[in-house]
Amino acid sequence: MSRDVRNALLFECAWEVANKVGGIYTVIKTKVPVTVSEYGDRYCLIGPLSYKTAPMEVEAEEPSDPHIASTLEAMRAQGVKALYGRWLIEGAPHVLLFDTGSMYSRLDEWKGDLWNLAGIPSPPNDHETNETIVFGYLVAWFLGEYVARQLTTAVVAHFHEWQAGLAIPLCRKRHIDVTTVFTTHATLLGRYLCAGSVDFYNNLQYFDVDHEAGKRGIYHRYCIERSATHCADVFTTVSHITAYEAEHLLKRKPDGVVPNGLNVVKFQAMHEFQNRHATSKAKIDEFVRGHFYGHYDFDLDNTLYMFTAGRYEYRNKGVDMFIESLARLNYRLQKANSAVTVVAFIIMPAATHSYTIEALKGQAVTKQLRDTVTEIQNRIGARLFESSARFNGDSSANGTLPNADKLLSDEDLVLLKRRIFALKRNSLPPITTHNMADDANDPILSQIRRVRLFNDASDRVKIVFHPDFLNSSNPILGLDYEEFVRGTHLGVFPSYYEPWGYTPAECTVMGIPSITTNLSGFGCFMADLIERPQDEGCYIVDRRSQSVEDAVQQLADYMHAFTQKSRRQRINQRNRVERLSPLLDWKNLGIEYSKSRQLALRRAYPDAFQTNGDDEDADEDYFGASERQGWMAPSVPASPRFKGIATPGDMGTLTEEMQALQTSDYRGYNQWPGASEEEDSYPFPLV
Ligand code: UDP
Ligand code: G6P
Ligand code: GLC
Repeated sequence: MSRDVRNALLFECAWEVANKVGGIYTVIKTKVPVTVSEYGDRYCLIGPLSYKTAPMEVEAEEPSDPHIASTLEAMRAQGVKALYGRWLIEGAPHVLLFDTGSMYSRLDEWKGDLWNLAGIPSPPNDHETNETIVFGYLVAWFLGEYVARQLTTAVVAHFHEWQAGLAIPLCRKRHIDVTTVFTTHATLLGRYLCAGSVDFYNNLQYFDVDHEAGKRGIYHRYCIERSATHCADVFTTVSHITAYEAEHLLKRKPDGVVPNGLNVVKFQAMHEFQNRHATSKAKIDEFVRGHFYGHYDFDLDNTLYMFTAGRYEYRNKGVDMFIESLARLNYRLQKANSAVTVVAFIIMPAATHSYTIEALKGQAVTKQLRDTVTEIQNRIGARLFESSARFNGDSSANGTLPNADKLLSDEDLVLLKRRIFALKRNSLPPITTHNMADDANDPILSQIRRVRLFNDASDRVKIVFHPDFLNSSNPILGLDYEEFVRGTHLGVFPSYYEPWGYTPAECTVMGIPSITTNLSGFGCFMADLIERPQDEGCYIVDRRSQSVEDAVQQLADYMHAFTQKSRRQRINQRNRVERLSPLLDWKNLGIEYSKSRQLALRRAYPDAFQTNGDDEDADEDYFGASERQGWMAPSVPASPRFKGIATPGDMGTLTEEMQALQTSDYRGYNQWPGASEEEDSYPFPLV
């Protein structure tokens, strides 16, 4: 019996569904509203069940689809624990979370099956791989049972990243009647190779992939990733640079690129985001006063906040380059006797043993000072009022004119002195806010020591390393990440390996300028679309065609030029940056995902797409003009000069024809190192 492909169901599966680790969580979560608007109740996300976070993220509910209910019942009868409900985020989608722990009893059986079925080995003590296997088998089990019960409607199963991808080869081998899409957000090998000291981009086409994976102890993981890539009906990735990498390291040319979007929220009042900058900045100011107590000898009105943030990947995220450039910036500002101070934040989770006493004390003593000043202020107010109210025009009688000398009592002065003396400190303000588990060998701290940025009074660049993600209940920097970003002046993300890079994209939609590189998917995307990105507050350091030294210099130049801007110029720049938001809105980019699902349906059910006149018209609904309405909406002012590309279809390039393209057709390919020697042929046939 043929399935209805027009109202297909969608299961979207990722390790980061309701489970935050890094950027994939952001992809899934922010994309939900557009996916729900397309699929409604026919959409369900699948992820792992974490008992720590699920109670906050998910509201349990009975499935409205009777086939999901009976499938889960059958699985539960065999001991599977799962939570079905609504994910409590915008769009409130259905979500199904599997407790992998409930099925570890079958791990060995499934490992054996994986070896027999796909020749994929699995060593005993790799926890991440064990999780991947149990999760993959559970998802394939669910999908298999589900489509055996529900026989009328086509099912698209979309998987993200290798950790959720194992179900794909299982679906293929078991002939489960679903069509699959695999989206990779990086390649395992790429991430590992770049983190080492390999000249990655010049050698991409020459790596002996099996050997390299084996050398790094990730051969089995690589096999899972590669089999997901090859068994999927449609294979996509998040940027052209990663498409090129995937082609060489995973040996399949992606069917298309699905750029990452964000859920862009427009404020009623145009300048609300500027007000929010000021409010959030005031909160960062509070932290800075506390952190630098005793050495708070710089003017906050003339201080700029720069930051970098993300998972702790020292080289891949370009933290090495950031710190080196900060040292140069410091030198230049010192030499010029600049009055500007830069406080540079590094927000990257590392192993720690809680906050340092110093960091907590700094916030406590400044808070005490503030409280005391408020008390004294109230008493002065009372005295002022009292003497003013009594004054009857005759100073010799009862009342006197308020006397400024007497407003501050001796007791108040003593109290104030005590608070001021508590601010004395013999040490320099610390670099870290936490006790590091391995202070001596930490790469970020080692580099800071090497360039000698110690928060000295003479330093114009101060550093704060916060080795944890932010949240508003944090006792020393009590802001959510978004609030923090809004309060800063410049985000700096000089990545060497970055398939997309949400952090600068998030800056953009909040109207905060950022620096990224032409080795990041986001950087390339913006460079592709905007004529002069640097004029729009979207700076892109060239890490492809120039030496590391030149790239460091360029980064220092950008930061230095930024410190020369006046407040008015910064405000203008924030306005320009914020205007770029529509480029990153899922409302415009979501269509690439729709296209990938359509392609998957066409490949799995070609008969259902046999054309007659009517069908072609219907296809136009998916690929044609109706989807593109609103693109480059009139709200985008003419000021940013966009390049010729103007439709989402042109941006993602997901077409049946992509397979026929030459490697050199990847966007920006010509400027990639080693590109000219590229031959578009494989050492072995494509599967
Ligand atoms: N992030 C966060 N809290 C922080 C710092 C970062 O939630 O304190 C988030 C940030 O909003 C972004 C994600 O972490 O969405 C990082 O994604 P990105 O694509 O930049 O890098 P990935 O970690 O996926 O490599
Ligand atoms: C926003 C606010 C202004 C404030 C400015 C500070 O634009 O609306 O009131 O003066 O931010 O900008 P700055 O770049 O100095 O933090
Ligand atoms: C990966 C990449 C990051 C990307 C994210 C979402 O974790 O490292 O660059 O932004 O996935 O696609």
